Amino acid sequence: MTSLVRGPQLARLLGQWHALPGRRRNPDYRALADAVRGLLADGRLPLGVRLPAERELAEALGISRTTVSAAYRELRDSGHLHSRRGAGSWTRLPGGHRVASSGLWTPQDQLDMIDLGYASMAAPAELLPAAHAAAEDLPRYLGGAGYHPIGIVELREAVAQWYTARGVATSPEQIMVTNGTQHAFDLVVRLLLPPGGSVLVESPTYHNALAALAARRARIATHGLLIEGPGWDAELLLGSLRQIRPRLAYLIPEFQNPSGHLMSAPLREQLVATAHATGTDLVIDESFVELALDGTVVPPPVAAFDRHSRVISIGGMSKPYWGGLRIGWIRASAPQVQRLAAARVGVDMASPVLDQLLAVHLLADADTIVAARRAQLTIQRDALLAALAELLPEWRVRVPSGGVILWVELDGPISSALARAAEEVGVRLAPGPRFGLDGTLERFLRLPFTLAPDDLVDAVRRIAAVRYGLDHAPRPQWMDSAVIA
Ligand SMILES: Cc1ncc(COP(=O)(O)O)c(C=O)c1O
Repeated sequence: MTSLVRGPQLARLLGQWHALPGRRRNPDYRALADAVRGLLADGRLPLGVRLPAERELAEALGISRTTVSAAYRELRDSGHLHSRRGAGSWTRLPGGHRVASSGLWTPQDQLDMIDLGYASMAAPAELLPAAHAAAEDLPRYLGGAGYHPIGIVELREAVAQWYTARGVATSPEQIMVTNGTQHAFDLVVRLLLPPGGSVLVESPTYHNALAALAARRARIATHGLLIEGPGWDAELLLGSLRQIRPRLAYLIPEFQNPSGHLMSAPLREQLVATAHATGTDLVIDESFVELALDGTVVPPPVAAFDRHSRVISIGGMSKPYWGGLRIGWIRASAPQVQRLAAARVGVDMASPVLDQLLAVHLLADADTIVAARRAQLTIQRDALLAALAELLPEWRVRVPSGGVILWVELDGPISSALARAAEEVGVRLAPGPRFGLDGTLERFLRLPFTLAPDDLVDAVRRIAAVRYGLDHAPRPQWMDSAVIA
């Protein structure tokens, strides 16, 4: 974990701190302190790191040292900074919250919070019966040690069949079961990316993937997605691959998180051909592939164009079924799966047998469950779109043809400030910069449509109220934030 943040790094994270709403009434030092608190609240600035010396930050921001001193004093007073004379100042939270090794912290339970930080749905009704059925299956496994590093064969067969049905012939030996898609990504990165290796990712992208890459000290290059149109600019994407020749490229072709775009079949084919030429392994995250809406036809999997084992697909049950299951998988060549299993021994050995049996039962009922999820998501998406059109008409929204997310273009670079203000009225948001590397996504906000329509409409009402009240509200009290997933 980073233990020291340098002046230019913090300046990059702070982005447009001086241009936030409500600024006119705030002195510079207070705006700076507010912006640092915002970074702490959503995890972009970890706890327990040393901030730059006052002079260094003043230089990086092009402001006076007195302003930085006053901001640090204010942060100390509010309990967000701890200073030792002559040694430096470290970030922390008021109230003595524990710092996890990841730099994140456990949020208080806030039951009345409308949580739009998670892009995931509550469990389907079929989950409980599947759990009972799994418990009845369990005795078949109790005679063995229970360790299955690549997963129980029944589940690997079910996942392999699912790939085969989607047009990419797959054997159970090509499947490894993991504890969720994030775990799958982390294992692949451990196996394929040497420390400091280069990776190409989309911008914006799934923020927890960035966290896994940071842990590997990856050198990250980005491909900026277009907001309108097809999302990926084919020429630029393939050009970047040829120029950078990254070791890995991490892409989310179906209903990309957070932009919602769907990659065309021709680009999938070109992507694989180019990756082969540049020696790049493609890590393809299929988290949302089953959640096409409005009858949208999803192109063949990227792996269907692969002739040289350049594509590793990852996916899982969190989005169509339930995040609490913690079931994901990797599709790779059989030898790669064996190497992944060897890498896994140093991490967590194997996935729980009971959960895998549960997953087998849910997959057997996939058609019914997924159809109901799609219907539910369509209603929720449309309720969220209607509420936004009515209450925040100056925000621009592209209607996604699948997935669970609206990527909203705001009426100014206000995303972090808005997220801070929304916490005050009981709505947790994931501001745009969470999904990028350099604090440049302040004009964007991720809004998942994974909650019930009434909650979504209520959330938009509250967000609209703070958006318009931001200039007139008294200075907000600080609140704890939570993991964004
Ligand atoms: C693109 C993407 N990949 C991976 C994950 C993590 O999934 P899991 O909960 O299965 O680890 C998510 C969850 O939001 C996601 O959106």
